[in-house]
Amino acid sequence: MPTKGLFGFGRLIESVLATQADAGPQYVVEAMDTEMGKDIHTAEVPISDYRLIVTRDPANVQAMLATQSVDWDVGEHRTDSWKPLFGVGVFTSRGEAWKHSRALVRPQFARDQINDLDLIERHVQQLFSAIDRSHQVSKEGWTPEFDLQPLFYNMALDITTELIYGYSAGSQDPNGRAELPVIPGYDTPDRQNIGMHMDAGKACVETRGALWKYRWLLPTKALNAHCAAVHKYSEWFVRLRLQRGDNYLSKIESESGDVSKKRYVLLDELAKVTQDPVELRSQTLNILTAGRDTTAALMGWIFYFLSRHKDVFDKLREQTLNSFGPYVASDASNIEFKELRDAIPYMTPVINETLRMAPVIPLNERVALRDTVLPRGGGYHGDEPIFVPKGRQVLIPTYAMTRRQDLWGRDVDVFRPERWEEDGGRKFGFEFIPFGGGARQCLGQQFARTKAAYVIVRFLQKYDKIECTQVPPDAPLRFHHTIENRSGSGVQGHKLLIAIPMNIPPSFLESVKTEFPNLEVVHHDIGSWGQTGVPYPDEEWKDVTILMTFGAFPKTPELAPKLQFVQLISAGANHILEQPIFKDTKVDFCTANGVHGPQISEWVILTYLSFLHSFPYYLDNQRQAKWDRGKHNVIEDSPGKTVGILGYGAIGRQTARVATAMGMTVHAYTLHPRPTPESRHDDSWAPAGLGDPEGTFPTKWFSGPSQEDLHTFLKSGLDLLVVATPLTDNTKSLIGAAEFEALASVGKGRTIVSNIARGPVVNTGELIQALDKGLIRGAALDVTDPEPLPDGHPLWSTKNVIITPHVSGASTRYNERALAILKVNLGRYSEGGRLVNKIKKKRGY
Ligand code: HEM
Repeated sequence: MPTKGLFGFGRLIESVLATQADAGPQYVVEAMDTEMGKDIHTAEVPISDYRLIVTRDPANVQAMLATQSVDWDVGEHRTDSWKPLFGVGVFTSRGEAWKHSRALVRPQFARDQINDLDLIERHVQQLFSAIDRSHQVSKEGWTPEFDLQPLFYNMALDITTELIYGYSAGSQDPNGRAELPVIPGYDTPDRQNIGMHMDAGKACVETRGALWKYRWLLPTKALNAHCAAVHKYSEWFVRLRLQRGDNYLSKIESESGDVSKKRYVLLDELAKVTQDPVELRSQTLNILTAGRDTTAALMGWIFYFLSRHKDVFDKLREQTLNSFGPYVASDASNIEFKELRDAIPYMTPVINETLRMAPVIPLNERVALRDTVLPRGGGYHGDEPIFVPKGRQVLIPTYAMTRRQDLWGRDVDVFRPERWEEDGGRKFGFEFIPFGGGARQCLGQQFARTKAAYVIVRFLQKYDKIECTQVPPDAPLRFHHTIENRSGSGVQGHKLLIAIPMNIPPSFLESVKTEFPNLEVVHHDIGSWGQTGVPYPDEEWKDVTILMTFGAFPKTPELAPKLQFVQLISAGANHILEQPIFKDTKVDFCTANGVHGPQISEWVILTYLSFLHSFPYYLDNQRQAKWDRGKHNVIEDSPGKTVGILGYGAIGRQTARVATAMGMTVHAYTLHPRPTPESRHDDSWAPAGLGDPEGTFPTKWFSGPSQEDLHTFLKSGLDLLVVATPLTDNTKSLIGAAEFEALASVGKGRTIVSNIARGPVVNTGELIQALDKGLIRGAALDVTDPEPLPDGHPLWSTKNVIITPHVSGASTRYNERALAILKVNLGRYSEGGRLVNKIKKKRGY
């Protein structure tokens, strides 16, 4: 990838800004897709004087994490930036120190006691009590709106601290905290603020890691304070364990009055192997950080998706009730650890799909310990090994791997747990590594999955419905990154302004209300297309976050400071390219590309068949009441004929579908080469079952920017040439005298040229000459240059021309389709997915 920005810091700045905008994971995908292409999965990225590699190729990831892991380790900058907060432990060490740590803690995770469901149940009850305490249920049975995520963070902190130290931090119910024993000379630990210190310390660590070479620029006061508080907390328990020795557990049991069951406490077990207080502090803090936030974030995401996917919620709830019966607060003894996995078949698909859509750890990394190779990324097709010098850092964007369409299918952006059940259950490899893989694979995976499944079961037993109601209202919080990814807030608190001069069907507004209950929707009928109608009041723009329009914008971008994305109602964007809100802001713009496919392809085929069946001739005769079979012996039909589609977008793809159904052969021309099946996909919007999303209709693909490339396509024996390319500086007069000659050199005058793009793409004067000379058989023009075509223009009287006044895109179903695109985008936006038909601002379409 090329260097960017001042002194090469452009990418670093972009990525920091994206992270701040809760779109860090998406930034990596977008940068790779737009700058390299969807088929390229490994790249070198220069940042100032530093180079790193980024790869979303599972083969490379497998090599680094598993098969060639001896050549790789986590980066020093990662381990060293974490150490001040958590010390040297399994998470924060490399080489021999890591091996030692892993050998120390690993056996603990193989034990069944770590999956202590009684402990989890106690904390689930505290979670429910916290909900009941703070939120009175209405007559209709609903609690008021509240944010579940902080409750999950409290619960995870409480469970993990109890599992690790034997005493819960009690953050869910500070008033109900159990008394801690007294250690003479030592203050009791600050349980109230431990979560805050961990969060704030982690934020400092993350900035240090990102600015590693320049970390000395960062102030250290806050970090030092958080580190001291976190250390003090852990040291207190370590001291207690060392003082109590082997009586640690029995004392806890007698304090809590629960001696019925042998407890499991990680600190107690580790202290049987080492008595080094610093080691005990560091190893337990390492597990605390690894185990707390990740699981809390996962639970947040699971409920985030469940609240938006009623069908998934209902299916999971039905299976839960079938297996474990309805909720009984005082008894959960029938929920066994093994059954959690096996009794609810839909559970694992839901958890996996959540981790796929929102990998809790979206970015991992490794550094080469010696000169080595990665198996893929080199050579012309990117499938040959690449050399990686010692010391080179390689980023592994987990999120980018789970958003690869070629690996997951075209519905990659859709939350659909069923994908994990299809074909006898999806097996996954290194394209799905939410828990890492190979040598340093997560030790707590099973514990995390058990905990999440248990919480889900109890939740679904107790609650029969859930609606998403997260705030803050003014932020499009999506992937909120604090090393792990917290879920965002969807479209609640958002205001959608539909500023178009047409009636919106009530059924559409109702369905939006059902799917996005917290979205405020305002329809403002501006009276006419463009900006000339009734303007939307200046002061009302300030809360608008989503806009649907043709060209009605606030007078200045500053009037709409919260605007996040604009859904255009037109398929093209030329009319807004100079608007300050488009040019000078980061607001995303999406077109209504795809709305035109059906009607324009029908126009193309209609006019083409008119030529083949001499239709204008017979219509003229009808007007004169003339029964004349005249041309019946020159009438042709289509099977076996060839259509060449110049610009294989939404319209071209639907035309290809119809032409194929008529028995024609399709040749496609695109600017960039499409050598692989993946590269032929088109992820822009198309009505269900139409178009050619997979790119399977063309039998031949042509590409290239040069005139020679274009001529190769034009000389491929075309009976019909469909001009369907956008108008840009490069496509002005793209089809002129030389191109008509090229068509004629093989077609011998049999080609019909159909222009449904823009008039200036075809040189009008040279088209008239080509028709006059018989270089082409005819021209069907829905667009002309100039437009409107003035009276007396020679094109009106040129023979073999069908002209319509730029109407091929009209259809009574246009608005219905445009609104369908808006709805798709609302759904994607609320789930942090990629917007469909998003305009690349630099390209302008
Ligand atoms: C949804 C929950 C979790 C996720 C997504 C997750 C994810 C991960 C990932 C991606 C790694 C690998 C890091 C790397 O390759 O450098 C990892 C390592 C680790 N995880 Fe988890 N984790 C979760 C829960 C837990 C829990 C609950 C525990 C413990 C109670 C835990 C303990 C660890 C440890 C100790 C390591 C370090 C392994 C090593 O470097 O040898 N994790 N985790």
